[in-house]
Order: sequence, then structure tokens, then C-alpha cells
Amino acid sequence: MAAYEYETHNYDVVVVGAGGSGLRATLGMAEQGLRTACVTKVFPTRSHTVAAQGGIAASLGNMGPDSWQWHMYDTIKGSDWLGDNDAMEYLAREAPKAVYELEHYGVPFSRTEEGKIYQRPFGGHTTEYGEGPPVQRTCAAADRTGHAILHTLYGQSLKHNAEFYIEYFAIDLIMSDDGQCQGVVCWKLDDGTMHVFNAKMVVLATGGYGRAFFSATSAHTCTGDGGGMVARAGLALQDMEFVQFHPTGIYGSGCLITEGARGEGGYLTNSEGERFMERYAPTYKDLASRDVVSRCMTMEIREGRGVGEHKDHIFLNLSHLPPEALHERLPGISESAKIFAGVDVTKEPIPVLPTVHYNMGGIPTNYHGEVINPAADNPDAIVPGLMAVGEAGSASVHGANRLGSNSLIDLVVFGRAAAIRAGQIIDPETENRAIPKAKIDAVFERFDKIRYADGGTPTAELRLEMQRTMQSDAAVFRTDKTLAEGVEKMTAVAAKLDDIKVTDRSLVWNSDLMETLELENLMPNALATIVGAEARKESRGAHAHEDYPDRDDKTWRKHSIMHVDGNKVDLTFRPVHMDPLTPEDQGGINLKKIAPKKRVY
Ligand code: FUM
Repeated sequence: MAAYEYETHNYDVVVVGAGGSGLRATLGMAEQGLRTACVTKVFPTRSHTVAAQGGIAASLGNMGPDSWQWHMYDTIKGSDWLGDNDAMEYLAREAPKAVYELEHYGVPFSRTEEGKIYQRPFGGHTTEYGEGPPVQRTCAAADRTGHAILHTLYGQSLKHNAEFYIEYFAIDLIMSDDGQCQGVVCWKLDDGTMHVFNAKMVVLATGGYGRAFFSATSAHTCTGDGGGMVARAGLALQDMEFVQFHPTGIYGSGCLITEGARGEGGYLTNSEGERFMERYAPTYKDLASRDVVSRCMTMEIREGRGVGEHKDHIFLNLSHLPPEALHERLPGISESAKIFAGVDVTKEPIPVLPTVHYNMGGIPTNYHGEVINPAADNPDAIVPGLMAVGEAGSASVHGANRLGSNSLIDLVVFGRAAAIRAGQIIDPETENRAIPKAKIDAVFERFDKIRYADGGTPTAELRLEMQRTMQSDAAVFRTDKTLAEGVEKMTAVAAKLDDIKVTDRSLVWNSDLMETLELENLMPNALATIVGAEARKESRGAHAHEDYPDRDDKTWRKHSIMHVDGNKVDLTFRPVHMDPLTPEDQGGINLKKIAPKKRVY
């Protein structure tokens, strides 16, 4: 093995990732005076949160009546009764506080005539526990909400003296023999130096793994790096079979057209010009939950009512909306439609197709952001020194399906929660535990093996094989046959990592090596997804199983837990948290209201 020199950095907290959750955690830690580093493989304001368009859900009630209990109910129903009720209460209850904090930090929200934060309708967000009309709950900065939040949080983090390590790639976690996370080893991409971050707490805010699929709205950087590191550390992943398809990715490029477009009055049509969502979801129509809309679009296409030469997509219509409304509320997607589909939205419909958008599953945590690794005697056993937030984590507030605009609020509520928790449990006066050199050498050994890998399979070739397999076998609709084939193919694909070929051996700006490390991270995420999907013999949320079309709460209202080792997945289960945080007589939600029932929109 080549000799690797390294520099050691000591912090109270090291946050890996600088998207919305990473920055909110970084800011919250730094505000409390904890010595905080944020390590990120891309410049913070280029993190994937920058692409979030439509908005952030919170029951501010600026546009009509709303309550956190209604938001909680919608989230539970959206999750198809798989989310943890304590975490979903925390999300809905803390959301208004988290949004007002963003406002005070300086996020330039769009405004109503009276100067309040503007809120738009989004799918699955309703009033009166799903019995009333859609609610306007999604706070928006035009259709560039993620961009606005990211820039504000980065500025605030700098103001509070958080230290940023930009374009550092996290290779692996360092776990002590007694199971504590002690830090993370990173490779500095622009000069090839190595860095060991020793911290009392590591926060994984590394985002999702959308790039395990061929077509995704996710940035190319969304490679499940946190999940990969956690799997290699022998820790668990949770509910990985639940992959969200956003109804409106631009046909061909996969670029996102926000659900806010339907929130502002846009609608979908088939080849007969029919507004088909009225047939499937008579009450909420185009504003039904995302999994529902994606399935309806797929059924229309399957039944021969798709549009275009190949009848393989659907139209999203906006041209009936006033041009000034499009300009004010949806400027970003008007531009994307022009660039990626050649369409003038004031005159023509946008060709769209359900596209992989979000991973409901991830690294299991409690609602404080602390990572859990379920054990036989304790399904909620905490991993000391390790947290996960944002799309990398699974708290679990999204269960089997996430509502639109519940992602941005998840980022800031749980980024903030992690900081609050860290403030309670970290003592800045104590010294960090020393990291044994052998632990660091073990990380370099793996890195070196990949750097000098000389097999017969180039990284890009294997990545494409994985993406095509996942796209066709872990699709919107799944069957026993496609899933069994998918498991077989993905097991073989993952084994080919042993035959990987890296061409560039240098350490400076070596994108060949970085993409190989990313592929090593994508693979356990992808494998856990297909294995979890094959095992789950029911339909729930985004997991639509044609051989088991109904939800089966008796057998399957439980989280799946995956431990991935190479190309093998050990699958166990963990109970859903049924108890909310606040008793009903103290203002909490009525338990009868949140009992499982048929999910119709
Ligand atoms: O449609 C959108 O603007 C996406 C929002 C989300 O995924 O939460």
C-alpha cells in the first residue's frame, strides 16, 4: 500500500454535507458555541437542495385556516401509515418555528399582499384531517425555494464561525471497538491531501441516492455517500424499498418541474385531452399524493393514452394561467421547460414523465437525529457519536411516501433538532478520544485498493448496468417476477465491484477515482432497495406491488432494516412508533383520527 500522510483536525462536531439539513445543523451547532466543521464534496450553495423548487411545508395559516395537527395527519396518511408518529408530530409541530427562523435568518420568501409569507397548495396537503379542501401550506420563494434557503444558511453559518472544508470527499467513518463513531477520514480533491476529522459527533447530511437509477431529478452528486459509509461500518439502513417517483420530470432529461405548477392551477392531460386525474382522485385530482399521481400517469400510458410519437408520456398544461402569474410564481420552471423541452409554457404543454426523485428510506434515526442500529433486545439502540439528517436519514417522517414540500421542512426541522440534541449531550470542555492509528490505516487500505484497482470493468460501465437494472426492476409498478430478477441481477452487478477498473492513479482532481468511490456508495443503497422491495409482499405508498395490490397492516406495518455486506443483505424488521409525543388532552392529535384506513384522495 502507498504511504498516506494525513492532517488531524479536532472538533466537537463534524457535519458531512452542506445541503439544507447539513447547513441547518452546522449553523445550529455553531450558534451554541460548539467547534463545528462542515465537510462537503461540492461548494455548499451547489448542494442538491439548490434544485428544490416548490417550497417548504408549515402550517402558518397565512392563506386560510391550518393547524399542525392537520399537517401531522396529512403526513401520516401520505406515509401510508409507515412513518413513526412521534417523529411526524415533531415535524409538523416544529415546522412553523423552523420556517419563522428561516425568515429571520433572511430567506427571501415570496409575499402576500399583506406582507406575509406566501403559501401555495401542494399534493396531499389538506384541511380537516383529509375531509376539507386542499390547504395552502407550502411556503415558497417563487420556484427557487431551495436556492434561497441554501444561500441564507451558508451565510449565517459563516457568520457564526462554522469552518468549511470544501471539496473534501468523505471516504469512511471511524468506529471505535466499543461502537462509538469517532470521526471521518476525507480526501481533499484539489490537492490530494488526506484529512482525519476527530469529533465527538459526526452528522451525516449526505443526501439521497437517486443516481442509483438511470433517470432521476437528483444531481449527479446524489450518490448515497452516507448510506455507503454506514453500511461499511456494519450499521443499518431502513425502508430502502420506498423510492419516490415525482410525477413531473421533463420527458427525456428528467429535469424537475415543480409540483407547485399544479399547486398554481396546472393540470395533466392524456392523448385524448382528458384531465384524467379527475377519474382517479375525484376530490383532490392533480393534487393527490405523488405516488398516486405517478401511478395514474403510468396507467394512462400503459392503456395507450400516452402522448407523443411513442405515446410514452403525459402533458402538463400551464398555458391557461395568466402569463404574469407564471412569471412571478414559476419563473424557474418556465425557463427549464424552454431549455430542456423547447416549450413556451404560455402556449404549449410540457411533456412529462414520473421520474425518480427521493428516497424515503435511509439511515435510521430517532427524532433527535441520533442514528439507531436496531438490536435484538433494543430496536431503538443509539449509535453514540453519530447522527443523520435530511434525505440521508430516515426519522421516519415519510414512511412509504413523502408529501411534496415535506422534504425541505424535514431538512430544517431535523437539522435544527440534531443541533439541539448535540448541545445537550456534547461537553466542549472534554478532550476528544484518541483514534488508534490502525483504524485510520484500515480506511487508507480500502482507498488504496480502489485507487489501484486493475480489473476488467470500467466504473462508468458498471454504474450504467446498475442504473438500468434499478430503473427497470425497481420501477413505479413492481411484480414478484421483476423483483426476483432484480435481486438476482443486482447481486451479480454488486459482485462486479471486485473487478472494477480505475485508470487514473493520481490524487489531484481524480474524477475517475471519486466516481468509483461514489459507485461503491451507491451499490449498497441500490442492493438494499431491491432486496427490501422483493421481500415486501404488499402495496404501500411508493411500493406498488401488482401481485399484492393491497396494504397489509397486520403483517407489514413495520420498518425493514437492512445490513449490507458486499453483495449480501441481511433483512430484519423494526416496529413502527405508534405513540405521538403529545397526549390528546394536552393538545395532541386524536388517536382515532390517525388509525390506519383506506388511503383515498
Ligand atoms: O415539486 C417540487 O417542487 C418538489 C418538492 C419536493 O420534493 O418536496
